[in-house]
Amino acid sequence: MPIRIEDAVTAPALAQGQKAMFIKSYGCQMNVYDGLRMAEMMAPHGYRLAPTADAADLIILNTCHIREKADDKVFSDIGRMRRQANKSAIIAVGGCTGQAMGASLMQQAPAVQIVFGPQTLHRLPQLLEKVQSGSQKRAVDTDFPELEKFDNLPTPGAYGPSAFVTIQEGCDKFCTYCVVPYTRGAEISRPAADILAECQALATQGVREITLLGQNVNAYQSPVTSHQSPVTLAKLCEQIGAIAGIERIRFTTSHPNNTSPDLIAAFATNPKLMPYFHLPIQAGSNRILQAMNRNHTVESYLATIAQVRAAQPHIAISGDFIVGFPGETEDDFAQTLQVAATVGFVGAYSFAYSPRPGTPAADLPNQVDELTKKERLAALQAVLDHTTEAFLTQFIGQTISVLVEGPGGQPGQLRGRSPHNMPVNFTVENGIDPASLPGQLVEAEITHAGPKSLLGRLARS
Ligand code: 5AD
Ligand code: SF4
Repeated sequence: MPIRIEDAVTAPALAQGQKAMFIKSYGCQMNVYDGLRMAEMMAPHGYRLAPTADAADLIILNTCHIREKADDKVFSDIGRMRRQANKSAIIAVGGCTGQAMGASLMQQAPAVQIVFGPQTLHRLPQLLEKVQSGSQKRAVDTDFPELEKFDNLPTPGAYGPSAFVTIQEGCDKFCTYCVVPYTRGAEISRPAADILAECQALATQGVREITLLGQNVNAYQSPVTSHQSPVTLAKLCEQIGAIAGIERIRFTTSHPNNTSPDLIAAFATNPKLMPYFHLPIQAGSNRILQAMNRNHTVESYLATIAQVRAAQPHIAISGDFIVGFPGETEDDFAQTLQVAATVGFVGAYSFAYSPRPGTPAADLPNQVDELTKKERLAALQAVLDHTTEAFLTQFIGQTISVLVEGPGGQPGQLRGRSPHNMPVNFTVENGIDPASLPGQLVEAEITHAGPKSLLGRLARS
């Protein structure tokens, strides 16, 4: 039986021989997926999850390296946890900072005894054994064994009606600002059969919505032997949609150049594929896109969006932006504001450029000063907030489907997500037990639109 994280956290006391572990995942959804898998993997070794690091025997920091701030947070957490935790607690650093820094991380943070990366997390039990047995004071494993981890992890557990499934690892695009190709390795897709088995196991545990994860998930291609035609992302979504119990499918994140016609068509033909597409553009100036090595233009991006909207007119388009890339002028930035308003993004993410050691852009001349980056970020976020709110306002008075996740923000409310991936809080009239609804798809009448979420009431059936 896979462990349930909630059960582990609320367990009154450790049984004899059991140890406590604390896991913190930073950054992206792929790390959230990896963090859950680590908890499940350590359970048969006698480790149960603890809610804080204070009384833990093992502390695992599943780190993110994408921006400098993410690294800073890890190092300050290591210092604080070392002071507060048991003196005998072992601190292990996994994830992308672990991969990028390897043994040098231990020089900067001597409290750390184990370092591993996103592709070697399944070897943590062996690394731990080396340190615990005293055969090594410290242990490091930053290999890139392709997809080996998936074959060495227990069947994933479900932690609610919605689950992530990683279907691809790594990235070959080498955008000049990005550490991912160095920390997660080459782009590689998992076999479709393995993914379908994982989705089936999740559906059996009550999962209704699957979000497929990868850095360029729209480039997914199941590895095949000769004569077989490869399974594309669109085909995979079709096959997952045929699994009993799975009602919603999403995927993230994508590259504009891999948005193939069959995927665009799937937004029209696959009713289980939700009308939400996260397609990063990063900048609205072709000059900057070229310096970023994005290999697409603003025009090609807009043409793709037009095709997607022709297939599914009500789709929510989300994305990522970076402001203050080296050499970005006021005029370049004005073009970014322009494209953000034109597309009408919903819930898009924007970041100030952070120079990352080892990436080509970190060495470019004309780095933009921090104050300018901050101002540009605020200006872009104002446009993105406006387009998100405008999108949400159209739902007032409509009845929409909501996958109920649990209690809402206010007493008496429940919380869930719309097909467009927007949070919905709603009330339930007397006579219906709110506790019976989490995990179900219900209809809600929308009465208000907030800046980032919707408010409504359960529709009468
Ligand atoms: N600085 C700021 N943002 C970055 N991203 C990736 N690398 C950097 C960086 N060096 C952003 C991109 C990417 C998202 C996951 O993080 O927008 O799409
Ligand atoms: Fe990074 Fe570009 Fe790959 Fe996305 S596509 S992970 S931004 S290198």
